[in-house]
Amino acid sequence: MAFLSAQEKLYDPWKELIEFYQVYQDGSINYYKTMAFFDVPVETALVAKDREPYELEGSVHVEHLSLETPDGIRLLDDVSLDMLQGEQVALVGFSGSGKSSLALCIAQLYQYTSGHATLGSREISGLAKADITRNMGLVSQSPFIFEGTIRENLLYSYMALHGEDCTLEGDCAPELDALVQVLQQSGLFVDVLRFGLNTILQEEEEENLPVIIDMRKSFQQEYGEAVAEWVEFFDERQFLSYAGIAENIIFGAPMADEFKNDRLMENPFFLDFLDDADLTRPLLSLGKEIAYQTVDILKNLTLDRMFFEQTPIRPEEFAQYEEIVRVIKNKSLHQINRQQTLALLELALRFSPGKHRIAAIPEFMVHLILEGRFLFKERIKQKNAHAVAFFKNDRYIHSQTIFNNILFGIVKTTNPAAQEKSTSS
Ligand SMILES: Nc1ncnc2c1ncn2[C@@H]1O[C@H](COP(=O)(O)OP(=O)(O)OP(=O)(O)O)[C@@H](O)[C@H]1O
Ligand SMILES: [Mg+2]
Repeated sequence: MAFLSAQEKLYDPWKELIEFYQVYQDGSINYYKTMAFFDVPVETALVAKDREPYELEGSVHVEHLSLETPDGIRLLDDVSLDMLQGEQVALVGFSGSGKSSLALCIAQLYQYTSGHATLGSREISGLAKADITRNMGLVSQSPFIFEGTIRENLLYSYMALHGEDCTLEGDCAPELDALVQVLQQSGLFVDVLRFGLNTILQEEEEENLPVIIDMRKSFQQEYGEAVAEWVEFFDERQFLSYAGIAENIIFGAPMADEFKNDRLMENPFFLDFLDDADLTRPLLSLGKEIAYQTVDILKNLTLDRMFFEQTPIRPEEFAQYEEIVRVIKNKSLHQINRQQTLALLELALRFSPGKHRIAAIPEFMVHLILEGRFLFKERIKQKNAHAVAFFKNDRYIHSQTIFNNILFGIVKTTNPAAQEKSTSS
């Protein structure tokens, strides 16, 4: 009995061990298979032993050169040509005819399978990488400079020819019309236009502004009615659903730093104004509502940026508001401390009913905000007339993108179709 029961108890661990062994075997085989990919002999040495890289004269000779793939496909067949130092040679041929392949053979990036190619009378296949890089430059067919601007990417080969300074304004810089033509030919025009339109201009770039105001006028004449469906035009008597409440109150571009959106909570003038306009209380309860709803809906989700499009809370602020909601849960609004009050007010001021579906704003508040807009204008004129540049049809709005400046309004939805339509207009 003892023997039988001992034998039975051995069975499971034994089975488990065998499974481990199997996993181990599979693992080692896969490991060797993977490593075999790296165990290939080096095609050409990086540096030549016992000598410095050659300084070669720049003529290239190609003689009966052929290139065959390992499965026997002939990509180049018996090519011969001479290029003397200082000569410019263009290879012309159909796409796929082997121009790049030949260039890559000469640059030692492909190993030709028969014939010869020499650089300054030395066989290219016999040179070390260091000899090649010392004596030859290569511009690849489709290079992309991730660090560079679109302009630098477009002018890549132009720069190679004229020197790097040619990307900027200057005698050798290409004509703007030529650039636009290239953009159109390469199908990039609309994207580049959109990048440009979505820029917020720096204040230094004043000289471009009258042009934009002119565009605004002709845009309104030609397309005003057609785009009215997707655009909220700036109108002093209308609430903007696609702008934040602070932007609705100020209704202009903040010129003084203390009136920029992220500084309002440190601005005693603005906080006093909210009190006098009877806005503090309703904004505070809106802020509380937004914080509660956001925390409630997002607390169990991974914090993906996408979810945050519906709320003025930013992903990096989520933990902070979660904590505030926890602390003020069972308190009424007058019991919460100064810091929490400011955090909730800030949320409400950022809230844009068109974009943020997490809460709604009551009709009476819209009226208060519109009344507040006039009171604010009154007051700021007395305090510092230059602190805010109010939206006016003949004035550039520095806080808005070029696009919104031309529209003199905001596209109603974040839906790309509406953007698309107004960009194409
Ligand atoms: N390793 C390979 N195996 C099989 N075919 C290949 C291999 N490398 C390149 N090719 C083929 O060789 C042909 C020559 O390509 P290559 O890029 O040299 O042409 P190209 O003249 O530079 O064309 P383009 O004008 O479009 O730049 C192409 O049809 C390509 O698909
Ligand atoms: Mg090519």
